[in-house]
Amino acid sequence: MCVVAYLYYTGISFFLCLVYFHYCTFPSENLLNSILFSLSLSSSAYSFCYYRAELQANRPDGTACASGVEGPRKYLIGGNWKCNGTWDANDDRVTMFNSAGAIPANVEVVLCVTDIYIPMLLQSIRKDIAVGGQNCGVNKGNGACTGETGSHQLKDIGCTWVIVGHSERREGFGMAGETVGLCADKCKVAIDNGLNVMFAIGEKKEEREGGTTMDVCASQLEPLAKILDAKDWEKVAIAYEPVWAIGTGLTATPEMAQETHKNIRDWVSTNVSPEIATAVRIQYGGSMKGANAKDLLAQPDIDGGLIGGASLQADFFNVINGVPK
Ligand code: PGA
Repeated sequence: MCVVAYLYYTGISFFLCLVYFHYCTFPSENLLNSILFSLSLSSSAYSFCYYRAELQANRPDGTACASGVEGPRKYLIGGNWKCNGTWDANDDRVTMFNSAGAIPANVEVVLCVTDIYIPMLLQSIRKDIAVGGQNCGVNKGNGACTGETGSHQLKDIGCTWVIVGHSERREGFGMAGETVGLCADKCKVAIDNGLNVMFAIGEKKEEREGGTTMDVCASQLEPLAKILDAKDWEKVAIAYEPVWAIGTGLTATPEMAQETHKNIRDWVSTNVSPEIATAVRIQYGGSMKGANAKDLLAQPDIDGGLIGGASLQADFFNVINGVPK
């Protein structure tokens, strides 16, 4: 298929370039120049047309191992590289992850990286690790949204996932933060554009101390419950990330996390439907790492993790291998 396409595109563009260069640009006796220029341009045509397909096709195979307890839901481990990494550093990480051994069959893994490195990851990371964005615009398609990446574009380049509603974006690092309504709207647009969404929610330290953890989580889920259809929920995982645990080294104890996860599932059961509550995956996020993953993932309502710092290291695979076996 690729070879046929190559011959087709290079043939047409070679012919067009030859006519142009030979008759319009170079003196007609300089045929060699025309041929050389035409050849290089026609090869570029091939690259242009097939670059995107190759992003996917070149990904090396990963290996699954059969081990892993089948639970009611498949575990979902998301890596969130945030605004970290350069070409070389990310290349090293890809090499490390590609040689890190098998991923248990009961786990789905996705890495969410800075937009500009998405093509690099799509081209080089093993096929059993999906690639996603860390944010997307609320715009449904192309438009005048300078600096934004639309979910239609993430989908177009080959992403299957996007994180929406991360607390850093809700808070806003020097910009206006994202409201609960905006996060819900983005989630709906991303789903409509064919992506799966890790929808992040969670309370701040003072809110936990004030006993309002579940009120905060509910306020973040309410607009989502209003805007999503039952079918949309198949494409959503809820990432419960207590803000006080993100990047701080403080982790909710497995019991604390389980309690909130159970409350979130109960909330979904009451406010969306019991079937969706049973099916929806709820990930834990906040200083999750190899050392604590096993105990967190052993909890009945913890269906995975959203991992920041540890996903930049080989330790990410300790988290993946922390799923019940
Ligand atoms: P952390 O980040 O694992 O570094 O705490 C988690 C996240 O922000 O998604």
